[in-house]
Amino acid sequence: MNIIVRENYYEMSKHAAGMIAELIRSKPDCVIGFATGGTPIGTYKELIRMHKEEGLDFSEVKTFNLDEYLGVGIDLSKPYNLDQSYARFMHEELFKHINVRKENIHIPDGLTKDPEEYCKLYEDEIKKAGGIDLQILGIGGDGHWAFNEPGSSFTSRTRVEALAQQTLDDNYEAFYKKAGISREQMPRYAITMGIATILEARTIIMLANGSKKADIVAKALKGPVTTDVTASAIQLYKGKATVILDKEAAAKL
Ligand code: PGA
Repeated sequence: MNIIVRENYYEMSKHAAGMIAELIRSKPDCVIGFATGGTPIGTYKELIRMHKEEGLDFSEVKTFNLDEYLGVGIDLSKPYNLDQSYARFMHEELFKHINVRKENIHIPDGLTKDPEEYCKLYEDEIKKAGGIDLQILGIGGDGHWAFNEPGSSFTSRTRVEALAQQTLDDNYEAFYKKAGISREQMPRYAITMGIATILEARTIIMLANGSKKADIVAKALKGPVTTDVTASAIQLYKGKATVILDKEAAAKL
């Protein structure tokens, strides 16, 4: 595992975007696993800049997102604030600004009528695309990867998962409160890629920033490998993992 510590959030984001761009330039039809949350927004901003100013070309890139809330989905006719879906997040923060083709975008369908069957299909889609070349990951305050909450098995695959209280609290503070959505209205379940699904990606970039993440980053990277901190699965990963942190998130390493 290669751990890179950068001075601040901007430098962390720039480094991550540079690595993603390098992959796209060397393999224009690569498969990228995208993540949502506050952490990767700066990386996406930099990718958008590279697309606009340097012609970074996403036209052949295929994408798979890690997760989506169950019961919500993209409906562009609705006002932004009423839809906190990850589909909308990806559209607003990245996809609408670049030339990725709609048919190449895969985000779990939060409105599926048959979640169990859908999860199997999602796994099949990843396989059909040839697997994920590069998976971008954050880390939750409770150590989760995607919505693999504490206790999720390292052999887990794409499935429905109940969100842990800490995740509900973190997401409320980061997204829902601002949007005027009450705690009671927040989705409590999500479709998430499993830990085993994530570990099959050929390369991984994990990002974390801010002092709030320092303890959990240290636990995941240096502590015991445990399903209590599902991101500690990175220590079992066989591919090339790069962890990019700002100084604050790296403080406890
Ligand atoms: P954050 O979430 O980027 O909003 O901190 C990270 C995660 O839950 O993986």
